[in-house]
Amino acid sequence: MIRFEQVTKRYPDGTTAVDDLSFEVAEGELVTLVGPSGCGKTTTMMMVNRLIEPSAGRIFVEGADIATVDPVRLRRRIGYVIQQVGLFPHRTVLDNTATVPALLGWKRAKARARAAELLDLVGLDPTTYGTRYPEQLSGGQRQRVGVARALAADPPVLLMDEPFGAVDPVVREQLQDEFLRMQAAVRKTVLLVTHDIEEAVRLGDRIAVYGQGRIEQFDTPGTVLGAPATPYVASFVGADRGLKRLSVTTIEPDDLEQPPVARLDEPAERAVERLRAERARWAVVLDADGDLRGWVGIDELTAGGTVGELTHRMTAWVPVGTPLKQAFGVMLQYDAGWVAVVDGARFLGVLTPAKLHEALRRSVDADARGVARGQVSFDSVSDA
Ligand SMILES: Nc1ncnc2c1ncn2[C@@H]1O[C@H](COP(=O)(O)OP(=O)(O)OP(=O)(O)O)[C@@H](O)[C@H]1O
Ligand SMILES: [Mg+2]
Repeated sequence: MIRFEQVTKRYPDGTTAVDDLSFEVAEGELVTLVGPSGCGKTTTMMMVNRLIEPSAGRIFVEGADIATVDPVRLRRRIGYVIQQVGLFPHRTVLDNTATVPALLGWKRAKARARAAELLDLVGLDPTTYGTRYPEQLSGGQRQRVGVARALAADPPVLLMDEPFGAVDPVVREQLQDEFLRMQAAVRKTVLLVTHDIEEAVRLGDRIAVYGQGRIEQFDTPGTVLGAPATPYVASFVGADRGLKRLSVTTIEPDDLEQPPVARLDEPAERAVERLRAERARWAVVLDADGDLRGWVGIDELTAGGTVGELTHRMTAWVPVGTPLKQAFGVMLQYDAGWVAVVDGARFLGVLTPAKLHEALRRSVDADARGVARGQVSFDSVSDA
């Protein structure tokens, strides 16, 4: 969808902002560009919509060499969220959002209807916020408008330059979540710039880690964190990358432990015997279909009756496929030594801290192997 072929940008004063850059972004993929200030991220982005022309090399968007495409036509296919948002201060939020459709010559009513729909999509009620001016919004709200504006003409490609940069960490995480939900629905091809490795990991299908004007590593978040390609990348992703990996490693059925189980309609007495035999203090309660119904402790079971009458609701549970970080969060939130993992309603097992650690190790090893494989195939496949 977007392809860089040996692209270099040298500014007239001799600064080489981007040096012999080659990479490709697939359709519907979200690639984050991350690196320190001045490493060439914005320059890279602005060459995609021809706000800056490369000094050498070629860039392809949707299969066409963009040097041959009229810039205005090109930009219609590319939404752009610029660094520092850049809303027009003298225009209302609605009109700001409708900027591109208006430029494209849409009828006013249609452009405004589209803008209202987009504001809704980014979580701003158009009747409340549509008539305001940018200065009457919070920083986070302004950034939402910036995203809505970039999406307004429904472009297949989206360039986002630090779109969540100007807000505090809490709002930022909220905006990131909303954006991920939106991206799951609209599946744009996205290049997103950030200088924050956390954000790059959280949002990117793949990450391009920039050094000075060059990409040092271009790979999945798991691999960049687990197997940094160079000492520079290792120092950039930081010493706490084990923690960051928690957010990109998901729970798999193999990671789970099988605790004692009691059936909803089973006599309590029988469940007690089984727990004693297994030297367990509690059991997970399932119904006849294997669906999770709660948990029960051995002390309560001695009261008699059926298991169902003594069952507690299960608060600490997550769906399979949840990132380990979130599962760990649930463990802490409910002060539980484990969390139940379900597939729909069906109970799969429990995740314990020991298993969580194992899962983390497994993913580090897998990625280290993955990188070795990747290098072999890269060397042996020419012109890939
Ligand atoms: N018009 C220009 N003329 C000369 N040098 C420039 C020009 N624009 C950018 N540069 C230089 O090119 C390099 C890359 O700039 P760029 O804006 O791409 O960095 P960036 O990675 O986006 O940084 P930041 O994270 O601070 O936004 C920097 O050294 C910058 O000073
Ligand atoms: Mg920049």
